Amino acid sequence: MASPRGEFSSRFGFLMAAAGSAVGLGNIWGFPTNAASNGGAAFLFAYLLLAFALAYPALMAELIIGRHARANGVTALQSIATGDKGRGFAFVVGSLGMLTVSFILSFYAIVSGWMLSFLLAPVTQLFGMAGATAWLTTDSVVRNALSVVVFMLLTVLIISAGVREGIEKWATRLMPSLVLILILLIGYVMTLPGAMEGLRAYLVPDFSALTQPGLLLSAMGQAFFSLSLGVGTMLVYGSYISKSENLPLIGSLVALLDVGIAVLAGLLILPAMYVALASGVEIFDADGGLIAGPGLIISVLPALFDNMGAIGGVVAFAFFALMTIASLTSSISMLEVPVAFVVERREVRRPIAAAWLGAAIGLISLIIVWNFDALFDWVVTATTEWSQPLLGLFFCVFAGWIWNRAAILKEIQQGSPDAASGFFWKIWPTYIRFVCPLAILAVYLQ
Ligand code: PFF
Repeated sequence: MASPRGEFSSRFGFLMAAAGSAVGLGNIWGFPTNAASNGGAAFLFAYLLLAFALAYPALMAELIIGRHARANGVTALQSIATGDKGRGFAFVVGSLGMLTVSFILSFYAIVSGWMLSFLLAPVTQLFGMAGATAWLTTDSVVRNALSVVVFMLLTVLIISAGVREGIEKWATRLMPSLVLILILLIGYVMTLPGAMEGLRAYLVPDFSALTQPGLLLSAMGQAFFSLSLGVGTMLVYGSYISKSENLPLIGSLVALLDVGIAVLAGLLILPAMYVALASGVEIFDADGGLIAGPGLIISVLPALFDNMGAIGGVVAFAFFALMTIASLTSSISMLEVPVAFVVERREVRRPIAAAWLGAAIGLISLIIVWNFDALFDWVVTATTEWSQPLLGLFFCVFAGWIWNRAAILKEIQQGSPDAASGFFWKIWPTYIRFVCPLAILAVYLQ
């Protein structure tokens, strides 16, 4: 027998879960380095504009469809489609979303596994276990494989416990801790020599960067990945929101939290990089750009923590705790997409579905670990650059063209009776119909 559907117990619970999905490696790692390489505050400006003008409307499409249908992504899209062809198209889009999010999780778990290893390293170091510390911080197939398995196990355990007892409970514990650690780390790093230069690199705008053709596109890609759009994650979380909740309001709070934490993370990462520079660590690559790839997190910052002396271990532990929390609250939202489908459509019990799907996705991660050079970049590109924007476009088509406008308004009015005369309803229907699909198409064609 399938378990009954869950529902978030409170607005706070939903906000922490959805912000937990949105706030991940994309915010703490992706956003700051993207900003520093693309005109600093000019990128920030473009990002804010795109996040609120394009990503927020797309987020609302997923939340509204999800709450209306109270079902997994595939069933939800099918329920608003009409005719056999429409329902067939809904099945294809929903299934591709599930497949895409599973592959995103397969590479995300590898990177999250690195975070877990670096989180344990200061602990083994504290206990004088030099061999274990070296093993944890040195890249190897075995370390990567084991850490993926541990990370996937954590993800499966939380998802098995259900919407309230798993997702909501852990998100409401972990997200406030994440914000606290982030603020403490910013406070500390700001006192170190070199931090102000990092702040300048992050915040002084180079508006000429706005004319570079790639800038708007990378800001938009960043916004879509960061808000977990296009793959059904927000749709499934939306399906667990109470009918009395004001959707436009809580959607905008999720977007604000996501953008706010990305901007805060920039106040940590860029100053930390320039503090590393001041302590003799190389932070520029061969082309003169800032090191932004894996090298940043697994070599530049650890080198900085090493140079900090006794406090370095504490700072490293706090930093990798921050990264692990950010990863875990995102990975659970990814696994929830196929789990909700299997539980509802195949009548499988949640823990069984979570275990089997977690094992299958973990297996894909292991295949990537063993063939890292050939597969990793390819899977990242195929899922986040090809599939995610295209699916985002289809979600907008569902909300703007396939679903009927009166039904959408009725859904929004359930938790917000004055919605028809509000600002959101004056703008959003046109946006989701024309502006969002065309803008995503423009990115896609690039
Ligand atoms: N939003 C997450 C991040 O910024 O790291 C990544 C993500 C989560 C993408 C969930 C897709 C998803 F379904």
